[in-house]
Order: sequence, then C-alpha cells, then structure tokens
Amino acid sequence: NNEIISLEEITQFQSPIEEFNPYAWYKHKLQNEPVSYNKATNTWNVFRYHDVKRVLSDHEHFSNVRKRTTISVGADNEEGQHMSKINLASDPPEHLKSRSLISAAFTPRSLRLWEPRIQEIINQLLHDIGNASVIDIVKDFAGALPTIVIADLLGVPSQDRLLFKGWVDDLFLPLPKNNAEDVNERKRHAAKEYYNYLYPHIVQKRLNLADDIISDLIRVEVDGDKLSDDEIVRTTMFILGAGIETTSHLLSSTFYSFLYDNDQIYAEVQANRELLPNTVEEMLRYRFNIAKMDRTVKKDNNLLGVELKIGDVVVAWMSAANMDEEVFEDPFTLSIHRHNNKKHLTFGNGPHFCLGAPLARLEANMGISMFMDRFPRIEPVPGFRLEDNLTPSAAGQTLTCLPVQVHR
Ligand code: HEM
Repeated sequence: NNEIISLEEITQFQSPIEEFNPYAWYKHKLQNEPVSYNKATNTWNVFRYHDVKRVLSDHEHFSNVRKRTTISVGADNEEGQHMSKINLASDPPEHLKSRSLISAAFTPRSLRLWEPRIQEIINQLLHDIGNASVIDIVKDFAGALPTIVIADLLGVPSQDRLLFKGWVDDLFLPLPKNNAEDVNERKRHAAKEYYNYLYPHIVQKRLNLADDIISDLIRVEVDGDKLSDDEIVRTTMFILGAGIETTSHLLSSTFYSFLYDNDQIYAEVQANRELLPNTVEEMLRYRFNIAKMDRTVKKDNNLLGVELKIGDVVVAWMSAANMDEEVFEDPFTLSIHRHNNKKHLTFGNGPHFCLGAPLARLEANMGISMFMDRFPRIEPVPGFRLEDNLTPSAAGQTLTCLPVQVHR
C-alpha cells in the first residue's frame, strides 16, 4: 500500500473558499518559490509550466511507480486495491501495454458511437428539469451527466446509474490530516459496495457481449492473457471513476464561472457557439482547481535546478503551471478568447496524458451547448453562500450545490 501524502500540509489554505480560489497561492509560488521543498511532507513542489511539463513527461527521471503519493483514490481493503494486468502506475515501456489495452475503449470510433447516447442522456436530464425556474446545477446536471454517461458506457442497467455517484465520491475523497480513519472507512465501504454490485454484471455480460466498455475489457487480450472478472471490476473502479468526479467538477465549476467569475460569458457564447470549445479549454485552464500529480525520482538529477535524489517525491502543480505568465498572457484573467489556452496542463502531459480527455471535452461541449439551447439566460440565486456549498474532493474544493435561476 502507498503512503498517502497530505496536501493540506503543503498548501496550508486557511479556508475552503481560499482553496476554491487558490490564485494568490499560485501567484506567490510562481514568483517566489517555483521549485521548493516542503519539510512537513518531505516533498519537492514545482509550479512553473516548463518544470511541471518536464516532471509529467520525462519518465526516465520521474517515475509513476511510487511508494508515497498524493493520490488517495481507492481503498485499503481487498475490494479497493488495484491489482490487475492493467497497471497504469507504471512507466514506459511497460506502461504502454496497459495503456493500449484501455485505449481500445476510447478510440475516436467509440466516441462517435457514443455521441448519440450522450445526446440522449442530456435531453433526458433537460426534460427532467421540467418547468422549474430554479435548479441545482450540481444535482440536476453537472453531477448527473458524467455519472449517467459512464454508467451507460460501462453497460450497467439504467435504473442503477445514479448509484455510482455516491461510491465514486467516497472513493475519491482526499485523506484529511485529522479523521483519516473515518474517511478510510467510507472508502472501504464504497469499494465493497461497488465491487459487489459490478461483479455479477460482468459475469452476466460475458454471456451477452455488447457495445460497451465492460464488453471491450472482456474482449481485450494482454500478451495472450485475458482479464478475469475480478480484474475487470478493479479496472473499471479506478479508470472509469476518473471520468465522473473530474467531469462533474469541470461542469459545475464552469457554471460557477458563468454566474460569478464573469457574467457576460454565457450570453456571448449563447450568441456565438463557435466560442464554446475555447470556453471549455479556458475553464480547464483557469477554473479546474486543483490539478496536481506526483512522481518519484528515478535517477539522481538536477533538471529542476535543485539536487534531486532517487526516491524523492515531486509534486507537479498543473493548475499553477496554467497561470505561468511565460506561457499565458495576463494569466490570472479568465478569457475565452485566449488563443493558446489549449496548452493548459489540466489533462497532464506525456505518456500518461488523460485517456478520457476527448470524452470529457465532448460531454462538456455538448452539455453546455444543449443547456444553452434550452435556457437562453441564467442568473445567480440571491443569498447563495459559497462557503456553505463546498466539499473536499480529489480536485480540491468542489461544489455540492449551485442554485441557478433559468429563463426559457
Ligand atoms: C489520466 C485529468 C476525465 C480517464 C489523467 C491525467 C490527468 C487527468 C491529469 C494524468 C495523470 C498522470 O499524469 O499521472 C482529467 C480531467 C478530466 C478527466 C481534468 C475531466 C475534466 C477523464 C475521463 C476519463 C479519464 C472522462 C475516462 C472515462 C483517464 C485515464 C487516465 C487518465 C484512463 C490514465 C492514463 C495513463 O496513465 O496512461 N486524467 N481526466 N479521465 N484519465 Fe483523465
């Protein structure tokens, strides 16, 4: 089992709101301590664009095989362990094998096949909103959409789709400094429930292969080996779990941004939909807090301007790199017209670049566009208090509820 590094000890944010808007901290780090050692956690932390990119992509020096990590996904009981022939916590060339197995399920062909299914899911969510004038974006849209999409792509029965949300929320909880045992218990519980739920479906699915991810994982071969039912459950738990939490966070943060960061954007994109893809990229750059990833030093080196020794842990702060003025002009301003915002590092870089990025982009673009078709104008609901509606997640503080007044 990996030892989990507490991020709180590195960031020292004073409140959930500060963590939801970590811009001052990134600015300080970028300017004053772009490569710095954190004693409390015994980690090196890097913030500037080129350093972050290097750490993520240079697998000869920075390994994805680790004993200590900031990633607290999964659980420490038997059901929550990721032991599989598909092992992404590895480096090239070994990693390539695992990656190509999984990517069978994420080809552009699959995306084209899935597009009408995603469209149908969005239509249903909009239909369910009915005539309500105030909706909760998180519950009614941002949280529901990726959950249902993933459940549908996995191929589980439609009535069970929302079960996934609760389990994934718990499996992705960060471990706090205090109360770690409570959180660990919730994770174990979620892992067990997920495992016990999915296992029989896989057994069933073998008898009736279809056009979905579980069927793809059943069909796939690794050096002549097939994946067992057990391995398929574990693979879906970690890999597809990555697709719910993240995309929900992107969507709810985007609506937060429309309402509170800059209330002109919604109308502007509404009038000119060609701006939408770039708007989504800018939200990934500016509003997807917090993106960070860690690696373990594989060979002694001085690549970041400090002496790094084998076994040292380096945390690469992608969200800070997205604010580096060497790459992004006026980085702390949200601008949907920025020409190079697609260079953001929110999906990572190099051999582990997010396999789900095309799916996340598709869901966000289709979801927002269809939402705009239905609701030409949105407004904040007076009295909303950000501090009462945040909760810790793997992506920093994330919204639990975001009321929006919708106009038809
Ligand atoms: C990897 C972010 C959505 C599946 C990654 C990595 C990042 C990331 C930063 C790289 C990790 C590393 O360098 O070690 C995001 C964000 C998303 C998103 C910000 C949405 C806004 C998705 C979705 C799926 C997915 C929808 C699938 C359904 C994966 C997989 C990997 C990965 C399988 C591992 C790739 C590898 O290690 O080779 N993601 N992700 N992600 N993501 Fe995503």
